[in-house]
Amino acid sequence: MTGRYWESTLPGAGRRSPRADAVSDAAVQSLNGTWRFRLSPTAAGSGDGFLASDFDDSGWDEMRVPSHWVLEEFTPLAGGAARRMLGTEEGPLYTNTAYPIPLDPPYVSTENPTGDYRLVFDVPADFGAAVLRFQGVDSCAKVWLNGKELGWSMGSRLPFEFDAPVRAGRNVLAVRVHRWSAGTYLEDQDMWWLPGIFRDVELLARPSGAIDDHFVHADYDHVAGMGTLRVDASIDAVVEIPELGISMPAGQTATIAVEPWSADIPRLYRGTLRAAGETVELAIGFRRVEIIDGVLRANGSALTFRGVNRHEHHPDTGRTLDRETMIQDIVMMKRANIDSVRTSHYPPHPEFLRLCDEYGLWVVLEVDLETHGFIYEGWEHNPPALPEWRESIMDRLRRTVERDKNHPSIVVWSLANESMSGDGFTEMRRWLDDRDPSRVVLYERDPSYRDSDFYSLMYPSLELLESIGRHEEPRGGRLSMHGMVFGGADEPLPPGVTEAEETRRRGLPFLLVEYAHAMGNGPGGLQDYWRVFRSYDRLCGGFVWEWIDHGINDVDAEGRPFILQSEDIDYEPRGGRFSLDGLLFSDRTPKPSLAELAKAHEVIDIEVSPERVRIANARHTADTSDLRFRWSVEADGEQVASGVLEVSTIARGERVEIAIPDAAASALRGTDAVLTVEATLEAETLWAPEGHVIAWAQRVAEPEERGSREVPGAGAVSEVAGDVIRVGAAAFDADTGRLLRLGELPVDGPWIDLHRAPTENDRGQGDNNNIAAIWRATGLHRLRHRIDDVDLDGERLVVRGRTAPRTHPHGVTWTMTWQPDGDGLRLDTAVDFMGPWADTPFKHRDIWVPRLGLRFGLPAAADRVTWFGRGPGETYVDSVEGARVGRFESTIDALQTPYPIPEENGNHTQTRWLEVTGEGMPTLHVDGEPFDFTARRWTSEQLEEARRPTDLVAGDRVWLNLDHRQQGIGSASVGPALPEQYRVPREHTAWSVRLSVR
Ligand code: GAL
Repeated sequence: MTGRYWESTLPGAGRRSPRADAVSDAAVQSLNGTWRFRLSPTAAGSGDGFLASDFDDSGWDEMRVPSHWVLEEFTPLAGGAARRMLGTEEGPLYTNTAYPIPLDPPYVSTENPTGDYRLVFDVPADFGAAVLRFQGVDSCAKVWLNGKELGWSMGSRLPFEFDAPVRAGRNVLAVRVHRWSAGTYLEDQDMWWLPGIFRDVELLARPSGAIDDHFVHADYDHVAGMGTLRVDASIDAVVEIPELGISMPAGQTATIAVEPWSADIPRLYRGTLRAAGETVELAIGFRRVEIIDGVLRANGSALTFRGVNRHEHHPDTGRTLDRETMIQDIVMMKRANIDSVRTSHYPPHPEFLRLCDEYGLWVVLEVDLETHGFIYEGWEHNPPALPEWRESIMDRLRRTVERDKNHPSIVVWSLANESMSGDGFTEMRRWLDDRDPSRVVLYERDPSYRDSDFYSLMYPSLELLESIGRHEEPRGGRLSMHGMVFGGADEPLPPGVTEAEETRRRGLPFLLVEYAHAMGNGPGGLQDYWRVFRSYDRLCGGFVWEWIDHGINDVDAEGRPFILQSEDIDYEPRGGRFSLDGLLFSDRTPKPSLAELAKAHEVIDIEVSPERVRIANARHTADTSDLRFRWSVEADGEQVASGVLEVSTIARGERVEIAIPDAAASALRGTDAVLTVEATLEAETLWAPEGHVIAWAQRVAEPEERGSREVPGAGAVSEVAGDVIRVGAAAFDADTGRLLRLGELPVDGPWIDLHRAPTENDRGQGDNNNIAAIWRATGLHRLRHRIDDVDLDGERLVVRGRTAPRTHPHGVTWTMTWQPDGDGLRLDTAVDFMGPWADTPFKHRDIWVPRLGLRFGLPAAADRVTWFGRGPGETYVDSVEGARVGRFESTIDALQTPYPIPEENGNHTQTRWLEVTGEGMPTLHVDGEPFDFTARRWTSEQLEEARRPTDLVAGDRVWLNLDHRQQGIGSASVGPALPEQYRVPREHTAWSVRLSVR
């Protein structure tokens, strides 16, 4: 059908050629602000009336521009009072891989919410020739100025411009935006579908003699230490870089001694490009990125990305971000030792890239292209493989590269995400080789990798990653995606892959575009990935999935705020909770995993042995002259000594060893003493204050024998007195062997505990690694306990029993032995696993338990804890190295990490001792072999049942778990199963704790 431009496989009409984004002295009039808006149910919009200059739009809604209309408050399609459309099919929709429209390319359903926007604006008489620029409209827009059609465009995260015949005085701009279009088929990224004019709209003056386009070529030769600069311009212009004494015509080349640009030292040379009618600012970074002998290098040295995948997200405004939020992201990244960003999965707002140049982040810039949903028809009509889509795909590439080509921070162009294969990629690659040979090119999903300079995968297991590092990966190279194994070593090559391509792939560097799925509590195992990355030159680092949760702020029926996610919306197909998988909560509060990542990413390696401190500088470019090394000793929670370590400047790649200062060595004695060595910033930087810690290491004094405190008069009497058995200071129920009181402290329990509220990572991906479903089906959340024997044996109370899930033959038998120990009691617990521990409904799959420990009920008055161990944040066996050892204090409420989907949280592993206090209750003291603890006002079963944090209400107890072990976190929500070493071994286990009250 003609005229249905929104269903065209072409990218647009009437637009100007793409060109460099630039900061210029030509006049700019922002058209952001309050526009008039009318939402209609079909692509016909409100009709043609709104084009007329005298159209009366006073009855229309007001709409903020830029914004996504689905997140704004206004009158909905169905009429009624103004409200946000959250929670309905008209509002924000989230899918992961599925298209929200029938798979019928290039057509879309007639139900196609369409927003007509209208703005009346004045233009000063002297404005001159003008260009109208839209920085981003989702998903297809047609534009009229003063009733005249300028054209239309698709490509949501890319700018488009029209020549704009504005007149002095009043002008009327009319824009029709369709939610669904042919462009939708090219934009199936895993994210919210958020229509609207969501980036800036500007009117740019284009005086005669203006610079339409320019291209900075700034190479760096690390051997000679020389930079080579050429700035091409679309018109005669002069390049001036005062600091370098450069003043030369555009198109000419200068070679000059410079400092290179890198993420650690983002050296920019500022200057101008001046033509008769316009001056454009230049921020030049000299650098060379290349692959030599299968190793990625920048300025001659190997480049390892310590990266994250960043979507643009704000919980109120979606992909409309202001500059402060962009800076906040960058500052938080730099402080967490993150040095690179993959702009998953589209070009970000151009300001973000200017900031990356300035603050120093390596950027993998991705084209706005993903066709993932074609998986549901077997990829038969995949757009990158079909000629009719070629123009649209090339348009997306050209608009990306032309806009962003002048940023030194961008070192890799990524052709697309998850769009399988097609000749379209080869054409993209060819165009890039011609237009910008200065950068390397990535495409992860085509198994031939013929258009990619990297071999790349997502979410491999550690074993596969190691084999890749050693160049020993199985044939075909794609055996593991999302942790699943697809083939064997003798498999034929993937279809369409030639032997020559396989040989070439084997020589490529490996870039891990996504790993460590940070969904809910997690990811665990970051340090393990980094141990592998550090070991092999072929591996050029990776990008954690992902930076931030994409939750949307909403309010429930009772007026309580909550984070809206896909399951809160009455709609199919939903994308599950995969929008909540970032290192930050939606409001940008860091999750505990950010500290773990910061530790894993450290580039100053500090190691403290009894006599020496070893410091290695693994930075890409910088030496350590910006750092100060401090030491301090804490004993019993107090700092007892501190000083500065005299360390001479360490060049990159070098290491030094120095003796531990005597003052530190002599202070590192006694109870709970810890020596900490830190590398800190000597002076404030753009992204952190003076003193910011970029690396640290500790040495903990060997624990001294605590000895039990003998309390005069409190003899170790054990006796049966009616219903009660007394053992030292404790009273037990004679029937159940359960603790009733410890001194004056009422205590209930302990029960053997084998369960935890599943984390998102425990739920695996689909049926893959869904250990939580097995726990549930086996009833681990409803354990039954049987007491077999309560026996007072001299002064020792021995309680024997069995704890097991309903229905099943397996369980554990256990013995708890209590005996007086000074002013307290020692409890020895021994557990044996009985039965097959494999489940028939699950085809005899092996069941592992998430926890092996003891659960106690304490009075609700309990409200503070103090402990010596890892802290202050939560820790698990596979995410603990980012937490320091020390003495920490917290309220019980503050121990809870508020994951938007309630799940296991707030654990503290490697705890040496713990105290629980509260108003009007004696203090409970626990010590023993290092243990895990959690304390909360609800049970882990209640935690599992809760849908939102607001469902969790304090009960009449505080539930304290003292666990021998809790399993790790992993990242199986999209990734491999939890490695064996982080599970709870199902074997005979015995451990001791000591309890006392003071
Ligand atoms: C990848 C994809 C991401 C995201 C992630 C899972 O396959 O590229 O966009 O969907 O998996 O959260």
